[in-house]
Amino acid sequence: MSYEQLITNFRAAGQGQVFAFWDSLDANERAELAAQAGEVELAEVERLNRTLVFKTGGGGANLDGLAPAPVTRLPANGGDAAQWAKARTLGEQALRAGRVAAFTVAGGQGTRLGYDGPKGTFAVTPLKQKSLFQVFAEKIRAAGQRYGKPLHWFIMTSHANHAQTEGFFAENKFFGLDRGRVHFFRQGRMPAVGYDGKILLETRGSLALSPDGHGGSLRALHRSGALDLMKAEGVDTLSYFQVDNPLVRCIDAEFIGFHLAAGSEMSSKMVLKAYPEEKVGHFCLQDGKIVVVEYSDMPMSMQKETNADGSLRYAAGSIAIHVIDREFARRMAAGGEDVALPFHRADKKIATIDAAGKAVKPEKANGVKFEMFVFDALPFAKNSIVIETARADDFSPVKNAEGVDSPKTCREDQMRQWARWLKAAGATVETDATGLPKATVEVSPLFGYDPETFARRWNALAPKPAIASGLYLE
Ligand code: UD1
Repeated sequence: MSYEQLITNFRAAGQGQVFAFWDSLDANERAELAAQAGEVELAEVERLNRTLVFKTGGGGANLDGLAPAPVTRLPANGGDAAQWAKARTLGEQALRAGRVAAFTVAGGQGTRLGYDGPKGTFAVTPLKQKSLFQVFAEKIRAAGQRYGKPLHWFIMTSHANHAQTEGFFAENKFFGLDRGRVHFFRQGRMPAVGYDGKILLETRGSLALSPDGHGGSLRALHRSGALDLMKAEGVDTLSYFQVDNPLVRCIDAEFIGFHLAAGSEMSSKMVLKAYPEEKVGHFCLQDGKIVVVEYSDMPMSMQKETNADGSLRYAAGSIAIHVIDREFARRMAAGGEDVALPFHRADKKIATIDAAGKAVKPEKANGVKFEMFVFDALPFAKNSIVIETARADDFSPVKNAEGVDSPKTCREDQMRQWARWLKAAGATVETDATGLPKATVEVSPLFGYDPETFARRWNALAPKPAIASGLYLE
């Protein structure tokens, strides 16, 4: 499209301010701005302004007819052990057949953590200071070794962190993975708007663009060619997890097995909420479909509702771990009237410029960013299921610099897990009342990544090492 046509289209849509400084830009700057403007779907922005930005009152999630979602409980909490064993066999078969790939969403900006760099490069382990990416890489390598089929790993980045993420893997020789099986692709971007619905400029020659949310991963998988690559490689099942959680079982045969046995297109893991105010999404049932209602969308009175036995009614917390069917991702990516992920509104402080072109650093929210959430795909999925997992074995994210979900709580949860494995394998470990070992120890996923794989290696060690600070099992 010519510059002239592009500018005309923006003016016609009431977005002519995007080109306010056009005359002062040089040829490169013009090309850059035009490329960014070309990414914007004006009709989509107009629709989002109408439905999300200008809408007063009545906003928020639809809570009509909400009920708690049905959940498959762990054997330890009343679930059927035989069913879990069957699921495991099925999952293992799929892994041996090479049908499964890992998928990490790593496009977020990590602002809450206050870390400057791709979040996956953040050091999380207690002794070796391994990065989140290294922990996942070793878990994925270990799963490949266990099932005799190396796995593909898809990593979604953002425009802001793509090059740095790729560079980090290259510097670290892909942590021993076959680099041909690690695939990076960028997620899409959305323009931010002011409260008047006008697209904001970040500088005279660039738009205020931001990642389109982890829901953008389905479109991005398709656009990047990842889905076609999977098809060619015989991969039909994606194990999805967030970049912030090093405890995650990246590849969980039982979960995969439950997903396949149900003929589900998208499945989820839940943990029991630790307390009513815990900031997680809630698995619910609405019109016969599984939905997630975010903590920010569910009234606190509902989050506090209890059953007759005093347990929380909306207890199924989302830890953002899913199994996704490849062709379901393709169907969602194609979109259309009835299968489209909705956008959510996030009020943010957005760095922009004023009418004179001078930088403005707002003190409070001055506009709206638009994001899609991957869990909004759940109600479109056939036979969606939710299974329980043990928090201590699957979830300890790093989100905040201090306090809950911080590097400290995460390190300690990792050490508690290793102490449990050591104890289960017969070792004597001194721990405090919370199960935290007195000695700072670390276990590589390549040594063991669950009680069984750990016990196998530990039992083969002779002599056994002393359990003292500095012990690293690899
Ligand atoms: C998220 C979930 C919440 C869940 C919790 C569990 C949302 C809105 N909520 O909360 O239901 O209980 O995790 O930990 O997601 N990301 C991208 N691109 C983006 C935005 C995010 O790849 O544009 C990735 C991030 O890199 C990260 C993940 O998505 O891996 C989560 O993003 P974040 O915004 O931190 O979600 P939470 O609010 O913590």
